[in-house]
Amino acid sequence: MKKIYLDNAATSFPKAPGVGDAVKYFIDQIGDNMNRSGYDSLTSDEMVFATRDMLAQFFNFPTPENVVFTLNITYGLNFLLKGLLKPGDHVIVSSMEHNAVMRPLMQLQARGVEFSRLPGDELGQVDAQSLHSLLQPNTRMVVVTHASNVSGTILPVKEIGAICQEKDLWFILDTAQTAGILPIDFQDLKVDALTFTGHKGLLGPQGVGGFLLTPELAERMETLVSGGTGSLSEYEDVPPYLPDKFEAGTPNLPGIYGLNKSLHYIEKVGLATIRQKELELAAYLLEELETIDGIRVLGPKDLEERMAVVSVDFLDHDNADMAYYLDKHYGIRTRCGLHCAPSAHKTLGTFPQGTVRFSPGHFNTLKDIETALAAIRQGLKEMRSTRS
Ligand SMILES: Cc1ncc(COP(=O)(O)O)c(C=O)c1O
Repeated sequence: MKKIYLDNAATSFPKAPGVGDAVKYFIDQIGDNMNRSGYDSLTSDEMVFATRDMLAQFFNFPTPENVVFTLNITYGLNFLLKGLLKPGDHVIVSSMEHNAVMRPLMQLQARGVEFSRLPGDELGQVDAQSLHSLLQPNTRMVVVTHASNVSGTILPVKEIGAICQEKDLWFILDTAQTAGILPIDFQDLKVDALTFTGHKGLLGPQGVGGFLLTPELAERMETLVSGGTGSLSEYEDVPPYLPDKFEAGTPNLPGIYGLNKSLHYIEKVGLATIRQKELELAAYLLEELETIDGIRVLGPKDLEERMAVVSVDFLDHDNADMAYYLDKHYGIRTRCGLHCAPSAHKTLGTFPQGTVRFSPGHFNTLKDIETALAAIRQGLKEMRSTRS
């Protein structure tokens, strides 16, 4: 049975053309460490710096050396939250956050950091202006996801950025669900730090992500991880400059080779084309789901307000049974449950049952969606008949 992969909100599959070859090329042909080999190590050094440059351009960020590589966005968010917040500080998050934000915050709360949630409505949308009512004299930071990984809702990040600038708050953006699909302009959004992960919309391999941060924030932020950098080796202190301050240990060089390839692919195809294609798939899926009884589809109806992340609650059935049925009988890969975002599900009214999430990606076709819709209809029919 041919597999139909509709779980791109978890990780993209397949990857951009050439990503696998680029990873293999590094392993088979290059293999040297960065900053550490006296011999011909320029190749991997150059590749890492070229990729930093590409990411800086991609996010319209003026300081490539302040592009820091980590394993993924979770590490990036942990670096920023734990490196910047001190006991007594207050943070505002949206009620749509992933646990990549909430779990570090819960740890920080135990150490005396306070947080408030910007409430969301039943579509997963937040009102940026209600930030004002949550402000406290000790509020330092606002952290939001650009789009929900549960409902696909795009949050009003430009408005939030403007308020943060006016109130002198650090604005941290989680681009896990939007990078590689929506244009993201660091400067225009008035972001202080932007986190990204390479393996979702950026179409790169797992194990590479990171963050971009302003020189002011970089100066204030303590590093979570310290160790060898291949630079200033005569000193035991952490190098004060970027990216070395935050990049201790050998980086995921095969991953960076792969990410470089996928960034070139995205540049070639263009974000507008990528977004347009995903919206076509989402539009068809959403339109047809409307005609099916006994389900609730989450998120905004207006395509401009959402990503192609479509969560469905099968009201009379266990969502896990439907996900299992789709995989077993049709090879359709979705993700079922709470998607590491319990707060989002509470906001949307789908806690604790969760949803089945369909997230078509760049390489899906309308035929894949047609098959998924037929499978959902057949699944509901069979589940209803087993019940009666
Ligand atoms: C909104 C959001 N933030 C953070 C993450 C964590 O991503 P990663 O596992 O790549 O760190 C995800 C992934 O599911 C996500 O959807």
